[in-house]
Amino acid sequence: MLNVTGKVAVITGASRGLGAGLAEAFLARGVKVAACARQRPALAGDAAEVLNASADVTDARAMARFCAAAVERFGRVDLWINNAGLLAPIGPLRDNDPAEFARHIEVNVLGVFHGSQVFIRHVRERGGAGVLLNISSGAARNAYAGWSAYCAGKAAVDRMSESIALEETGTGLRVHAVAPGIIDTDMQALIRQCSPEQFPRVQKFLDLKASDAFSSTAFVAERMLALAFDPAAADTPVLTSLPLEHG
Ligand SMILES: NC(=O)c1ccc[n+]([C@@H]2O[C@H](COP(=O)([O-])OP(=O)(O)OC[C@H]3O[C@@H](n4cnc5c(N)ncnc54)[C@H](OP(=O)(O)O)[C@@H]3O)[C@@H](O)[C@H]2O)c1
Repeated sequence: MLNVTGKVAVITGASRGLGAGLAEAFLARGVKVAACARQRPALAGDAAEVLNASADVTDARAMARFCAAAVERFGRVDLWINNAGLLAPIGPLRDNDPAEFARHIEVNVLGVFHGSQVFIRHVRERGGAGVLLNISSGAARNAYAGWSAYCAGKAAVDRMSESIALEETGTGLRVHAVAPGIIDTDMQALIRQCSPEQFPRVQKFLDLKASDAFSSTAFVAERMLALAFDPAAADTPVLTSLPLEHG
């Protein structure tokens, strides 16, 4: 098993769902974790291992403060995961509320920009290696009716990540936009509540639940750690997808 003891990871959107599961799995592997969400995460562990912070990814100053607090607590950040995200508005674009669409882009795109910027500056300042993982989705790479905001936002995350990779070539920074697979979180519960009029492919997600075909957060966490720290993963393309746990 890859030795990741003492590495330092930041995870945004870690109050529940994938982010909380990643944080718990990382801590169990000896990784020090700084976690944030609007609702302060409640990760167990002593101050030498865990930093729970309340921070909204849409707030540039809050993200800068959160990064500074992580560096002050742990000395450095090796891995930054921009995981915070939302799905709404769901439904045909013609019916979407412009304010809700704008809020979506603010969280899923501007939030990734804020996290990426503070981490890139940190890596450049301290020198050495750093890995930035921006959580993407299959919806970045395939269109879904009813998810125009989500598809547009995740496609933007993909392209932003590719631009960062070009800009930071020759520094120690490596970046990937990672489609994590399908994990049974609140976001999946929200998808299953949609009517076929809002989201025509809802049955596929109901079937996934019926067959319990999800990836566990522990499975996703192990692959993220390998992507970040296994030297064999260094040549992984910027846009990447994790395998599903159950094939
Ligand atoms: N679940 C899946 O199958 C799946 C598949 C592909 C990609 N993803 C991606 O994986 C990521 C996590 O999804 P999930 O399924 O775990 O969703 P989730 O269960 O809805 O959790 C979302 C997390 O993001 C946080 N968050 C939302 N807005 C925020 C903001 N403005 N600032 C800081 N944190 C914020 C939430 O905490 P607060 O509400 O406390 O802020 C929560 O911790 C998302 O980027 C999603 O698009 C998920």
